[in-house]
Amino acid sequence: MAHPHGTDELYALGLKEFRFLSAFLSAHTGIVLPDSKREMVRGRMVKRLRALGLDDFKDYCALLDADPDAELEHVVNAITTNITQFFREPHHFTLLAADLKRLAARPGGPGRLRLWSAGCSTGEEPYSMAMTLMDSLSPAQRRDALILATDIDTSVLERAARGRYPAKAAERLPAGYRRRFIGAEDEDGRIEIAEEVRAAIRFRRLNLLDSWPMKGLFDVIFCRNVAIYFDKPTQRALVDRYANSLKPGGLLFLGHAESLIGVSERFDVVGKTAYRRLP
Ligand SMILES: C[S@@+](CC[C@H](N)C(=O)[O-])C[C@H]1O[C@@H](n2cnc3c(N)ncnc32)[C@H](O)[C@@H]1O
Repeated sequence: MAHPHGTDELYALGLKEFRFLSAFLSAHTGIVLPDSKREMVRGRMVKRLRALGLDDFKDYCALLDADPDAELEHVVNAITTNITQFFREPHHFTLLAADLKRLAARPGGPGRLRLWSAGCSTGEEPYSMAMTLMDSLSPAQRRDALILATDIDTSVLERAARGRYPAKAAERLPAGYRRRFIGAEDEDGRIEIAEEVRAAIRFRRLNLLDSWPMKGLFDVIFCRNVAIYFDKPTQRALVDRYANSLKPGGLLFLGHAESLIGVSERFDVVGKTAYRRLP
């Protein structure tokens, strides 16, 4: 039954229940929620409690305890922070373009190219990678190029795969890219990413804490503003797995507030929060 008064204020989240939710999330996703996030968590979870007809967080925690697998997707979709933008930190895409051209200039061309956007959210990051790829390489050079885009949150993945965004979001694209890769604005004020860009990307659900099914090494990995929510041991283990999954000389891009200092010694710095895997 929906709450009789329907106001969010009545759904109080006690410290005990907050810590239960926080431990649940950290165990399943690596995301660490300090006590200061209690109000944020309450705000993001209220809709789910309403949908379940639950009146308070005690009942919700009992339900989570009884059947964690069934509820995990809902907790994750509600709590993850999904903020992103096209060409966020544009210097990363300048570096990416230069590196793709370097690979293409090798005798025999670039060959098989695999790029990964890990924690892709609503898709702006992998689409920016795909546009950079198309602008940097000829169709022949990118014949065997593919971008994997993964996230733990199924609701953002659905939006990413649709490839439709408010026209305002596309204002961040370089003008030439807008003309080449973006369709006209529709009557709802939305634009659509061109089919050739979408075709370069595979969207998949993947929890970075689980085992990874991908075979073969990557040339480039973007994992920006994802591990920042994890604790240090989880960050270290993740970056180590990235190093194992990259070709020697492959690039790793992190978010603007992240760094490999004290996290990994397997990379050289090549730019602002941009790293190259050591041989
Ligand atoms: C702030 S967004 C970053 C989006 C994009 N990379 C960027 O920098 O603009 C963080 C994303 O990481 C995802 N995420 C958090 N924990 C994850 C995990 N354990 N496995 C996979 N994705 C995760 C979230 O669902 C969210 O979409």
